[in-house]
Amino acid sequence: YDYDLLVVGSANADLVIGVERRPGAGETVLGSDLAVHPGGKGANQAVAAARLGARTALLARVGDDGHGRLLLDSQRAAGVDTVGVLVGGAPTGVALITVDPSGDNSIVVSPGANGRLTPGDVRAAVSLFHASRVVSTQLEIPLETVVEVVRSLSPDSRFVLNPSPPRPLPTEVLAACDPLIVNEHEAKVILGDACVSDAPEDWARLLLAKGPRSVVVTLGAEGSLVASSAEVSRVASVKVDAVDTTGAGDAFTAALAFRLGAGAGLAEAAAYASRVGAVAVTRKGAQDSFPTAEEVEAL
Ligand code: RIB
Ligand code: NA
Repeated sequence: YDYDLLVVGSANADLVIGVERRPGAGETVLGSDLAVHPGGKGANQAVAAARLGARTALLARVGDDGHGRLLLDSQRAAGVDTVGVLVGGAPTGVALITVDPSGDNSIVVSPGANGRLTPGDVRAAVSLFHASRVVSTQLEIPLETVVEVVRSLSPDSRFVLNPSPPRPLPTEVLAACDPLIVNEHEAKVILGDACVSDAPEDWARLLLAKGPRSVVVTLGAEGSLVASSAEVSRVASVKVDAVDTTGAGDAFTAALAFRLGAGAGLAEAAAYASRVGAVAVTRKGAQDSFPTAEEVEAL
């Protein structure tokens, strides 16, 4: 394989304002100076993997504008192969983000060019699929594009999905996941009426019954839960002081995908990924906060 990981997904300019608290409807609050960071769940995953040493390619669409150049620069600086990044068709996606004193964020995404990443764009990039050991994606691109990603997988490559932002998924997509990576909110949306329990072990079993070969439920400070037909086990988190959690889930997914591709077991890969996510939450921004392999070792 030429690539350890191919990420198909979104690239956004993150417009970030720190707030004491979020405004309610009809309310105005004053926040910090504006920071503009490269982000987007797909672009974040690609940078996170590359920084850990994975040979990584990104298939995405940005606008022919300053935000698009910011994103391309960030990918290239991290060492991501941007041969699959298409330019034009709409302005680059934008994420409006507020971060509160506890490091938690609220995000509204305007998809822009991400919404124009088509099934045809995926078919045109079939050589990238053949060259990649693991393929990962998220749901900030059209669902029909995600379906085409699943149909484009090589028989022996592995597919990892973080269904964020969540929506109900066709069986064809769920059955390809190895693993499906969800937080509590995403688990509940995907399970819908089937979600009758408060126990993450039950969510994992119910999700597995929908077809994925494996499932990872992330539980924030509580760590994560990994589940396959062979095992259901808890993986501890690393305790850190959160500054900005933006993108930490993307870094977790990318690290997990990379380690799985390198032959690690699910629990071992999740333990490594949680250390990567832990470093990311201690620093501001998304891509700017992702660690190198050496920094993960030092934690
Ligand atoms: O997961 C974090 C990301 O979500 C941000 O970078 C923002 O762009 C949104 O896509
Ligand atoms: Na961060």
